[in-house]
Amino acid sequence: MRKPFIIGNWKMNMGFDEAYEFIDGLIERLSTQQLDVFVGIACQSPLLVPMIAEFYHEEIFLGAQNCNDHLSGAYTGEVSATILNEIETDFCIIGHSERRQYYNETNESVNKKAKLLLDYDIKPIICVGETLEQFENNHTKEVIEKQVKDCLKDLDIKKCVIAYEPIWAIGTGKTATTAIAQDICSLIRENLRAMYGDKADEVTIQYGGSVKANNIKELMACPDIDGALVGGASLNLDEFVAILTYE
Ligand code: 13P
Repeated sequence: MRKPFIIGNWKMNMGFDEAYEFIDGLIERLSTQQLDVFVGIACQSPLLVPMIAEFYHEEIFLGAQNCNDHLSGAYTGEVSATILNEIETDFCIIGHSERRQYYNETNESVNKKAKLLLDYDIKPIICVGETLEQFENNHTKEVIEKQVKDCLKDLDIKKCVIAYEPIWAIGTGKTATTAIAQDICSLIRENLRAMYGDKADEVTIQYGGSVKANNIKELMACPDIDGALVGGASLNLDEFVAILTYE
């Protein structure tokens, strides 16, 4: 039985004061709820240290939005899996389309990052997804299959989370229809089954791309969707709580 995992990806938003106010509010609002999902927030790296210290005993997982594919060295401006481990980061998003697009992240580096994170006891949230052009030209299946094969090879797969985020649905207000989201998440699981056998059934697969309070319920009803990676809507406390309590 896979317990769903919903993560708010704050991207490059939220300063210290806003973040504290948000998490305090979130804890208070969730204290009266019986949640059926794990909850995570991925914030900017400098926020992680104080947030992890402050919210250590709370049932909210805190994560980074990237790490480097080397453990240490002359990589100015980068963050290592080792230091994320030292500050007790729970998870780290890797391979997000914004990093693939603006910082040339490749499937190979995503695979290296996932291995380093697992070595350092941090859950990798591994993003895959096709561009609008690939979607319109009916290349989604082959793009996703290649990303899965290359990003997810030789991993302790049960400890990983996969996030299917069609790039054309990110920040655009366009959500993939539930049928598309389910189809691709199921395709991902089928490919995982070919690589890892029955372990595929234990892997959490999230959907991401314009997830809101008004579409989460339908998405979560899909058999292969086990949660969501939420961008814009995770910056608003009311909206995010409504997403977490979608039932
Ligand atoms: P939006 O929810 O703003 O479309 O962003 C999705 C995303 O990129 C989450 O990682």
